[in-house]
Amino acid sequence: MYKQLQQRDMDSPPVNVSTLQRMKEQSEPIACLTAYDASFAQLVDMAGTDLVLVGDSLGMVIQGHDTTVPVTVDDIVYHTRIVTRGLRHAFLVADLPFMSYATPEQALENGVRLMQEGGAMMVKLEGGQGQVSVVEFLAKHDIPVCAHVGLKPQSVHKIGGFKVQGRESEAAKQMVADAIALQSAGADIVLLECVPNEVGKQITDSLDVPVIGIGAGPHVDGQILVLYDMLGITLGRTPRFVRNFMTGIDAPLAAIEAYVAAVKDRTYPAKEHCFS
Ligand code: KIV
Repeated sequence: MYKQLQQRDMDSPPVNVSTLQRMKEQSEPIACLTAYDASFAQLVDMAGTDLVLVGDSLGMVIQGHDTTVPVTVDDIVYHTRIVTRGLRHAFLVADLPFMSYATPEQALENGVRLMQEGGAMMVKLEGGQGQVSVVEFLAKHDIPVCAHVGLKPQSVHKIGGFKVQGRESEAAKQMVADAIALQSAGADIVLLECVPNEVGKQITDSLDVPVIGIGAGPHVDGQILVLYDMLGITLGRTPRFVRNFMTGIDAPLAAIEAYVAAVKDRTYPAKEHCFS
């Protein structure tokens, strides 16, 4: 019982929400990646990644869809369950897919599935003011929540494509207000996608909880990339913020280690990966 108490003295104890909070407070960059299966999860974990996300990006990189919209709760439960088997150290977050959290009750039911059937330690949802009551309800039931703001891929058909968000000052102000409201509602982490550096900095400075960025510049508390993008597996044009860590490296584990090192020493993201 209370295995975690014994693990406290280990060199590299499992990451939990308190670890992530301490990393923010001590300005230690948090290295995060997505994973979708046990073999890659093992590599990502061995490389020292702090947080692993079973993202609904699996709809695009695993299932071959153009968007994340077709992904179901069953898909995420399945991939979370197999990713869990590869992890020893990293904190595991799983996505609530499109329309699986339209009401607080539906969010709770599906969040419980991701945790009980999948083994997730936290659920992620794409949100703004409209999701405050959902986050509040989940937090009230002790479900840890990551709130995803900025570019929200599940809204791609509503916003008209995958594009940088928060470039206009009104939109940036609204995004900062959304992030603060989601934190006040109980979100434990905020994930910020595809925004100018300045917005990344403003949101990170405004929040007490860790802010993980993807295309959100160098000032956030941690970075995340889609695993298949940073390993150069994704064909065609990848977003500006992606760096192919396989370039000049011959093994996926070494590439993932290079990513973790680059996040930790803040050499990733570089200027060419950022938006202004
Ligand atoms: O689904 C996903 O992989 C994401 C990324 C933005 C990290 O949410």
